[in-house]
Parts: sequence; C-alpha cells; structure tokens
Amino acid sequence: MRLGVLTGGGDCPGLNAAIRAVVRRGVRGHGIEFVGFQDGWRGVLDDACEPLGVPETRGILHRGGTILGSSGVDPLRAEDGPSRVRATLQRHELDGLVVVGGEGTLTPAVALADHGVRVVAIPKTIDNDVSGTDLTIGFLTAAQIATDAVDRLHTTAESHDRVMLVEVMGRHAGWIAIHAGMAGGADAILIPEQPFDLDQVSEQLRRRHAARRSFSIVVVAEGAVPVEGTLTLPEAPLDENGFPRLGGLASELAPEIEKRTGFGTRVTILGHLQRGGSPVAFDRVLATRFGIAAADAAAEGGWGRMVGLHGTDIRDVPIAEAVATRNLVPLDLSRDAAVFFG
Ligand code: F6P
Repeated sequence: MRLGVLTGGGDCPGLNAAIRAVVRRGVRGHGIEFVGFQDGWRGVLDDACEPLGVPETRGILHRGGTILGSSGVDPLRAEDGPSRVRATLQRHELDGLVVVGGEGTLTPAVALADHGVRVVAIPKTIDNDVSGTDLTIGFLTAAQIATDAVDRLHTTAESHDRVMLVEVMGRHAGWIAIHAGMAGGADAILIPEQPFDLDQVSEQLRRRHAARRSFSIVVVAEGAVPVEGTLTLPEAPLDENGFPRLGGLASELAPEIEKRTGFGTRVTILGHLQRGGSPVAFDRVLATRFGIAAADAAAEGGWGRMVGLHGTDIRDVPIAEAVATRNLVPLDLSRDAAVFFG
C-alpha cells in the first residue's frame, strides 16, 4: 500500500508527533510506503511531495510546527480541484491520504470521497472545536501556554491595581479561554458561545473592586461577540483564504471597560505564541496514538473515518459526522468557571 500524508490549516504543537507515528506504524506494522505533501492540500493540487520514511521522521517528536508545512488551501475552491487531486494520487500510485487537520481541512475530504479520493483523518487544532473526539492535537499545549500567561499577568495586575485583558485564540469555540481562565483564576471569561454585555461585565468588575480586590483578569476569546445592539465593533479584514482574520478584540474592549469602570486597563494578545513551541506530554501521546490508529485504519481500508479520543479510548467516526457540527464549550463548563467570578 502507498499513502500520502498532509497537514492542513493553522499549525499546532503535536503535528510532527502524529506524522512520525503514522509513518513508523505504517512502515513497520503494515509495510506501507509514504509520500509527504507540502503545505496541506496545496501540495496535492500542485503535486509537491517527497518520499516520507522512517529516517525523515526521526528526531521530530518534540518539535512544534510541521515538517510538511501547512496552508488553509481548500481543494474544492481551486480550479479543477478534485481532478487535480485525483491525478496526483494516480501519478504516485497512492491508495489514499492521511489528512491531519481541523474542520477547514477535513471538510473537503468528504466531498472528495465522491471523486474517488480515499482519506483517513486525524483531528488537530488548538481551538479544540472538531466534533467526534474529546480533544484535538494541540489544544492542551495552547491551553497551558495561555494559563502560564494568565499566571504572569496576575502578579503585575495586582501590583498596579489594573484590569488585565488577555486575548486568546478561539474562533468559534472558547475552549482555550475557558481552560486558561479556570486554571488561572480569571474574574471574567468571554467566549464565542455566549455573547457578552460589556455593561454587565464592567458592573461585575466594579463590584469586585468595591468589595475586595483592586485588580481583575479578564480572558477574552478572539471570536467572542457582544450581545446584538450593545456594542459596535470594526469588521475583521479577510485573510488570503477569504476568512475573517481575527485578533484584536481585546484592544477594542479595553477603552470601553476603562470608560465604564474608571480602572486602568491593559491588553495582552497572545496570538500565535499559542501555536508555537513544543507540545506538552499529553499532546505528544495523543498525537502518537492518533497516528498509530490512522495507519491501522488505512491498512484495514477504513476510508472516510476520523480517529478520535473517546474517554481514554481511541476510536474512529465518519469524517462527515465529525465536521457536521462544531464541538463547543458546554454551558455546564462555563457555569463552573463563573462560580469564581466577581
Ligand atoms: O484555527 C486555529 C486558529 O488558531 C484560530 O483560532 C485563529 O483564528 C486562526 O487559527 C489564525 O490563523 P492564521 O494563522 O491564519 O492567522
């Protein structure tokens, strides 16, 4: 059997661990030969690939980023996309692809199946918003980076009696915000799942400062939105793939909070720091288990399936099912976080 491997969408810590495990298990356990496509689906469209064997995947377990490169290119939006993908696979006599990606990278795999393109998927994204798995590769590392930042901001907030806004990633889902906020003892957390009312948030901060403390930490997910009609925010510019380029919400909110509360307010936007550096131990293990399961699934002909974590087990689900809905922060969890507000 011959397979292609690609990593698509925003990079995250743990991608290399997954590539290493797919190749190691595939070669040694099933005699599979691999090629690695460059920069996600773009490499398949443009036929940019290199042989990928055990030697190429040595020494990368702990390394962030992806040795294959990544992009958000969608093969269904490219001219003659599906036939170009099929032609590349035929040219290299590939039986299928192992695709490591989030929703944007995995969704095209569903439609490509109708064009004879066979895919096994591995879920990754620091946003943790892919369904069909309890966790995606990269999330726990990002949540730890954000928690470390909240811890550091705590001490300086306290010294200067300030409100500190910490903006974290999270386009559609507030997983990083909720985790870093709960782990770091935030006094308010704004997430995309629950539109915020800045008057209410400011009132909450005023009450806290009047009663006991003279500083606050507010964790803001980049994709949080105000309750309709309560606040006008500038529209986000579009990125190279036509999606809103988020980042900067906290800078819009800070002067508004300062105006409403009179408290000195500062902003820290963590941005791509959350996607950089080495994966934490759990992400390395998760990526390794996903990689092994994906190689096994491909060897058994489990096309159209995505491996995922369910409790402590690795199981697979149809890719179509995984991308049909987003994994959002449940109300219960944000209620737990709110116990500590104020
Ligand atoms: O999808 C993961 C993500 O980290 C989002 O939270 C964020 O909005 C986006 O990637 C940023 O992507 P880019 O690297 O294209 O700026």
